[in-house]
Amino acid sequence: MAMVTRFNSISSRKLSNALTLLTSNKSMVATSDYGEFHKMVKRYILTSVLGSNAQKRYRGLRDTMIKNIVNVLHSEIKNNPQNAVNLREPFKAELFRLSLTEALGKDVESVYVEELGQEMSKKEIFNVLVMDPMMGALEVDWRDFFPYLRWVPNRSMEMKVQRIVARKTAVTRALINEQKKRIALGEEINCYLDFLLSENTLTEEQLTTLIWEAIIEASDTTLVTTEWAMYELARHPKCQDRLYHEIREVCGSEMVMEEHLPQLPYLNAVFHETLRKYSPAPIVPLRYAHEDTQLGGYDIPAGTPIAINLYACNMNQKDWDDPEEWKPERFLSSNFEPMDLYKTMAFGAGKRVCAGSLQAMLISCTAIGRFVQEFEWRLKEGEEDDIDTVQLTTHKLQPLHAYITTRAMDHSGLQSS
Ligand code: HEM
Repeated sequence: MAMVTRFNSISSRKLSNALTLLTSNKSMVATSDYGEFHKMVKRYILTSVLGSNAQKRYRGLRDTMIKNIVNVLHSEIKNNPQNAVNLREPFKAELFRLSLTEALGKDVESVYVEELGQEMSKKEIFNVLVMDPMMGALEVDWRDFFPYLRWVPNRSMEMKVQRIVARKTAVTRALINEQKKRIALGEEINCYLDFLLSENTLTEEQLTTLIWEAIIEASDTTLVTTEWAMYELARHPKCQDRLYHEIREVCGSEMVMEEHLPQLPYLNAVFHETLRKYSPAPIVPLRYAHEDTQLGGYDIPAGTPIAINLYACNMNQKDWDDPEEWKPERFLSSNFEPMDLYKTMAFGAGKRVCAGSLQAMLISCTAIGRFVQEFEWRLKEGEEDDIDTVQLTTHKLQPLHAYITTRAMDHSGLQSS
């Protein structure tokens, strides 16, 4: 509630030293202070990529993404019927392809990075733009906890993060320069880069940071949620059956498509219950009160850091029966609106609410629906208790390994609606 009613006072971000370096001192939507720059760039990303109109333009990309992952799973079963499949690899590759296309207008197989004097493969680009910065964001600078010692140098931490920043900036610049050649030839595409260049309001550093932001944010959280949902469905055959029957009833011989989502309450319940139990951001990125305010009856002086602990809220026994249990049924009550994205606050709230919630929901729900429609999922032995997490978001430490079998129904006959 406070995130909405007190947004004016508590919507600025408090960044660790590592995040300040990684985000070029608040030059991106998610880390900027609440103010004119934040309003402008949030409008940009919603208008050109993540808002509902923009998402309609990217529909074909999402459909292809899910079709490609399903095809990989089919060929895995065909080639190695005894092996458990690893969903993470094809999902990660397809999400990255989608994020590059939305941000730059084109998928990229490799790029020559002049500043590093090196040709980089797609895998290397992924590591430099996504994996390394995620790990860098976890760098702990003891000065974050003792701000009055800010003047004491901590060179090893700074140099480590600066190296990550230099590499991701060089690669993003090289990717942007490639696309500028396309634009110079008069070939414009509906994508974030072309939109930002046409607005002509940003410095080069801001442009580079915003393009990188669109790539890194799209490449991770949706995978985290979908992988945990498939883990739980494989662990709970009754829930999986219930979902399969709902899909058969609603979709018949058609493939699950985005149009079906409002008619699939159990699928939506699976998505929300997964967000509740495994919020990709268990603590909302830190904020601070930039003016004196009141929260829950307490006086909060300006400058106070504010951490909103979603994990604790979503595991609170007062609000949820058996919070440790994964029970999608809890989201089926008549007073729950299936398309309400904010029940668990996993996407935050108020003016800083997640800009990518619609894309995340469309991809994750359609993917879960298609995966269950086409295959029966069963956990590999020993996977039941494999629930450790790692990284900035609640990544499953070990990728999900599950046995899948094609459903008895002839899905070669599945039609797109
Ligand atoms: C299941 C998937 C996702 C979850 C759980 C999630 C969660 C969050 C959370 C908790 C915040 C902070 C909100 C606050 O401070 O109140 C946030 C912000 C943001 N997210 Fe997401 N996110 C997801 C997917 C995405 C995707 C796919 C994108 C982009 C492609 C994205 C882009 C953003 C942006 C730009 C912000 C900053 C908004 C602002 O500061 O105004 N998110 N997200």
